Amino acid sequence: MIPIASPIIGEEEKRAVIRVLDSGRLAQGEVVKEFEEDFAGYTGTRYAVATNNGTTALHTALLAVGVGEGDEVITTPFTFIATANSILYCSARPVFADIDFETFNIDTEEIKEKITKKTKAIHIVHLYGQPCDMGAIMEICEDYRLKLIEDACQAHGAEYRGRKVGSFGDAACFSFYPTKNMTTGEGGMITTSNREVAKRARFLRSHGSGVRYNHEILGYNYRMTDIAAAIGIEQLKKLDAFNKKRIENARKLTAGLKDTGGLVTPCQLKEVKHVYHQYTVRVDDREGLIRRLEERGIGYGIHYPKPVHRQAVYQNLGYSDSLPEAEKACEDVLSLPVHPGVGEEDIEYIISTVKGWEIGG
Ligand SMILES: Cc1ncc(COP(=O)(O)O)c(C=O)c1O
Repeated sequence: MIPIASPIIGEEEKRAVIRVLDSGRLAQGEVVKEFEEDFAGYTGTRYAVATNNGTTALHTALLAVGVGEGDEVITTPFTFIATANSILYCSARPVFADIDFETFNIDTEEIKEKITKKTKAIHIVHLYGQPCDMGAIMEICEDYRLKLIEDACQAHGAEYRGRKVGSFGDAACFSFYPTKNMTTGEGGMITTSNREVAKRARFLRSHGSGVRYNHEILGYNYRMTDIAAAIGIEQLKKLDAFNKKRIENARKLTAGLKDTGGLVTPCQLKEVKHVYHQYTVRVDDREGLIRRLEERGIGYGIHYPKPVHRQAVYQNLGYSDSLPEAEKACEDVLSLPVHPGVGEEDIEYIISTVKGWEIGG
C-alpha cells in the first residue's frame, strides 16, 4: 500500500522528545521559545508564536490583527473548513471569492468584486503548497487598506519570487498536523513582523495573560507543549530536504502523466516555489480512477469533495453563493501520493496504474 500521507520521524525527533520528558518540564517553555525563534528565522519574519494546532493559530491571528464582530473577511471556498471557521469564531463574516481554474487558489479579480465598506481583511490560502498571486494580492491590500492573513497551513517553505510564504501578511499561520510537510503531531504557528500583532497573539494563546494570573484580555489556552516543539525543531531542520523530495516526486509524476487523456496535471506558476503538500490532478472519470487505485493499493485523497459555502454549517447560516470554479473543482480533483516517503518505484507504479486506467484497464 502506498499511503497518501506518512510522517517521517527519525531518531533525532525521538531523542529530542526523551530529553523533554526527562527534564520534567512538559508544557510551553524554553523549547517552544527555541522553536519559535527557529521558525521565524526560517520564514524571514521577526516573530513566531506557537499554538496547539493550525486552527487555533488562525483564530488567534485573526483576532490579533483586529478582526471582530461586524467585519467581513474575504476568503476562498475551496479549502479545509478551518480557514473559514476561524473567521466565524471571531464573530466576523466569511465572504467567499471564487478560485482560479489553473491554480485552485483564490482569484484576485473575484476578491476585488467582493470588497465592501465592511471588508476588514483578506484571508488567503496557499493551497496544496502553491503560493497565491502575492503581487496582485499585496496591491489590493494596499489600495483598499485591508489586513492580510495567510493560511500557509499547507505551504511550509513555499516561496513567491524568492520570498517565503508566511512573510507577506500582517500575520500568517502554519499547521503541523501529521500529514503536513513537517509535523509536531498536532501544532500550529503564527508568523508576523508586526510587534503588536505578535504581542497580542502571545496574550491570546495564554488566557490573555503576560504575567501569570494577571489577565488583561479574554484569551484561550492555545499553547503548544515543549514535547511538540522538540519534534518541530528537528522537523524544521529536515523541511528543505522533505520539500526537495516532494518537488522531485511531483516533477516525475507530471512527466509521466502529462499526456494522459481525461487527466490534467497540476499547474505550477513560474515565479513560485510550489512545495507540493498535495499533488492534485483533475480527472474526468474520478470514480473509475479511484476504483483502479484501490485495486492496486494506492492511497488517494479528495481535497475537497464539497466547497465550504455548500457545507451544512454554512447553508444553515444562509449562504447561497454560486461559485462555479470551486464547485467544479470539488467534482474533478484527486490527490496522488507525493510525500517524501514515496520512492522511485512507487512513482513508476502510480504512473503505470493511472496509465492503465486511461487505456481502460
Ligand atoms: C488550509 C488549512 N487550513 C487550516 C488547517 C487547520 O490546521 P489544524 O488541522 O492543524 O488545525 C489545515 C489543516 O488541516 C489546512 O489544510
